[in-house]
Amino acid sequence: MADVQWIAAGRADALAPGARKLVFVPGGVSIVVYHHQGRFFALENSCPHAGAALSASACEGHLISCPAHGLRFDVRNGQCTASAALRIPTYGVVMEDGQLWLSPPPAA
Ligand code: FES
Repeated sequence: MADVQWIAAGRADALAPGARKLVFVPGGVSIVVYHHQGRFFALENSCPHAGAALSASACEGHLISCPAHGLRFDVRNGQCTASAALRIPTYGVVMEDGQLWLSPPPAA
């Protein structure tokens, strides 16, 4: 786990299947971590359309719906279903000894 600024996201067993949690990063960024169908996914908590918080989004299948205007995004990769130009930045998720760690998206 060298060469990456890992972000601690808590114990994996504390996030029940289907649940989500917010992780706050110094500097004002928040990340939503989803426990979805046996895997963990982490997305920036900001809709790329107009910045609404996604932490309260409904999740159906692999899709989350933004609570502001209803655009839907794939929880696995952040891609909007309606526009190829809209994508939520995603974080890598690694579990080590039951602890979840997030790696930031590559710099643009
Ligand atoms: S802010 Fe998310 S769809 Fe508009």
